[in-house]
Amino acid sequence: MKLRILVTAGDGIGPEVTSEAVAVLKEIAALGGHDFTFSEKRIGGVAIVADGTPLPKDTLDAALASDAVLLGAVGGNEFNSLAPDKRPEGGLLAIRAALGGFANLRPCFSFKELTVNSPLRQEVIEGTDILFVRELLGGAYFGRPREWNKEKNVGHNTMVYSKDEVTRVARVAFELAQKRRKKVTSVDKANVLEVSQLWRAAVTEVAKEFPDVALEHQYIDAMAMHIMNRPRDFDVVVTENLFGDILTDESGVITGSLGMLPSATIGGKVNLYEPVHGSAPDIAGKGLANPLGAILTGALILRHSGGLEAEAAAVEASVRKVLELGFRTTDLARGQKQGVTVLSTTEMGTKVRDTVKEQLLAVSR
Ligand code: IPM
Ligand code: MN
Repeated sequence: MKLRILVTAGDGIGPEVTSEAVAVLKEIAALGGHDFTFSEKRIGGVAIVADGTPLPKDTLDAALASDAVLLGAVGGNEFNSLAPDKRPEGGLLAIRAALGGFANLRPCFSFKELTVNSPLRQEVIEGTDILFVRELLGGAYFGRPREWNKEKNVGHNTMVYSKDEVTRVARVAFELAQKRRKKVTSVDKANVLEVSQLWRAAVTEVAKEFPDVALEHQYIDAMAMHIMNRPRDFDVVVTENLFGDILTDESGVITGSLGMLPSATIGGKVNLYEPVHGSAPDIAGKGLANPLGAILTGALILRHSGGLEAEAAAVEASVRKVLELGFRTTDLARGQKQGVTVLSTTEMGTKVRDTVKEQLLAVSR
């Protein structure tokens, strides 16, 4: 298998966690005789400082010429006063738009060993396995007009969707549900917003193509509560951009740490892979960052860009194994002082890599 992977590590903890993910991918390439090549480009705050723009042209060109883009994180407090499109986050939104992936897959699962890490009760979260499908190119993030009018002291954004934009992301959700527990929950605010009424009608129409999949609709406010009260009831959850942004951070509470959550964006020219967590500038460079979200994101590259399901599963199994053995990064050690070993970012990466190696060698033996 040949894969050209562009690494845009970005800001804060981005470089530390992506380098652990890359190391795991290199190990897999070496073991399986795969030809993975890695190149690196700047994005976000580091690009603003070095190139004067959060998405330099050579980064975008390299991204478009690759098979997959692995992004670390963008953002930093020193850029807070800039306009949205000039900020590090503007670079991320621009690369998302240019690569064209509209379906952002964000799995949320509870790890048995981490249930004590969650403020939620163990019996509520154990066994949770939700796949969020967040629409990534529409809604208020990209809608026009948008403005902060400083003379008039008003600001506005536009939450806009066309039927086609809803239909294509809904199809992805239903297709994924067919391979899982055959249930789709569509989340909107159709009791208040016209854009949500269109969303609901379009999703309902797509559901007719998938008679084997059950569809339910939930309002975003109620859903924010349901995923805390009864997360196990949900299989695939499809929603618009902003609602999906909020729900997926909230779902970090179920897993026990935002640092565990991976994501893959599919449907465009080049798939984009990024952990859900942000740049965490407060802990950057200290070896405290949890690389598991980035490593699990690497597993999604293997699955969705490489078609290497066994290898992807081996990475996921290795993460579980390492947790079972009691290894934790600082964020995962909260509430479990006894019987666990706290590791640095690189130590955790090495543990997973060694375990992946054992797993894959055991299979090939
Ligand atoms: C995410 C992030 C981004 C988003 C930011 C950094 C632009 O919060 O990927 O969830 O809002 O989409
Ligand atoms: Mn977010």
